[in-house]
Amino acid sequence: MHADPQSVSGARPIIRVRHACKSFVPFKGRSVEAIRDLTFDVAASDYVAIVGPTGAGKSVLFDCLLGLKTLDSGTIQIDGTQVADYVRRKSGGIARIFQEDRLLPWLSATDNVALGLQIRGVPEKERRAQARDWLEKVGLGRFADALPSELSGGMRQRANIARAFAIRPDIILLDEAFSALDEITAMKLRSDFQTLAHAQKMTFLIITHSIEEAIFLGNRILVFGSPARLVHEIDVPPGAAEDRGLVDSIRAEIRQCISASGRDDIASRQA
Ligand SMILES: Nc1ncnc2c1ncn2[C@@H]1O[C@H](COP(=O)(O)OP(=O)(O)OP(=O)(O)O)[C@@H](O)[C@H]1O
Ligand SMILES: [Mg+2]
Repeated sequence: MHADPQSVSGARPIIRVRHACKSFVPFKGRSVEAIRDLTFDVAASDYVAIVGPTGAGKSVLFDCLLGLKTLDSGTIQIDGTQVADYVRRKSGGIARIFQEDRLLPWLSATDNVALGLQIRGVPEKERRAQARDWLEKVGLGRFADALPSELSGGMRQRANIARAFAIRPDIILLDEAFSALDEITAMKLRSDFQTLAHAQKMTFLIITHSIEEAIFLGNRILVFGSPARLVHEIDVPPGAAEDRGLVDSIRAEIRQCISASGRDDIASRQA
């Protein structure tokens, strides 16, 4: 069985989050409210940046979008289907890229990138060919046989990006995927990721603490309060990242609504 690159309906996916609530009750102690009455939509081929205070439930939201955690109440639909049914129906429909790399240290770059295809039963020769192709696309063609320990942090993150694209997901979730890298490496990777995602007509959501990154990658910025709820939304016009004045005014807008929502961690980090 090969991964099916198309959604079952043939339509591009749309994410609909409605009145999502999620709390944790630790073994001892008080319960932690992670998501509170969160409602938003993601249209096909949207590029959505999510910013908000630390501990606001952003990563928990990604767990819920992947079906790894279930909501206490509310709903998440992807491509018109409840999230649990979507992930069952279409394994690999959503890929996630983390801040830290999740490569297996004993596998070559090729075998790491091929892992998702292996899980989906793609024959060895074909999955290795596809993996090498994706390594080429992310600029790691010469390092196909290298072990993760032989790659720099930026190169390892390139391999993670290749691994995410290799399964041809409908949606990619990036959880602070560029924030562990030095700024020069991060800029190049962001730009390369963007080029690939646009070429693949990929819907992506990125959680970031960098307002510059949100403006560069997002066509929409969702500003979360804590617990995760939508406190503000900004449409980012094309080319905004090159307009210093616009970047400053979006930054001020985000700072103001995060401060008004009661938490200003991100505002102070961006000072
Ligand atoms: N499995 C869990 N059990 C108990 N509490 C949890 C669990 N996972 C997350 N939480 C809590 O849920 C809240 C939201 O966590 P989450 O990791 O989503 O924050 P975040 O917005 O991603 O923060 P950051 O920007 O620092 O990554 C936190 O208070 C966290 O401690
Ligand atoms: Mg997080």
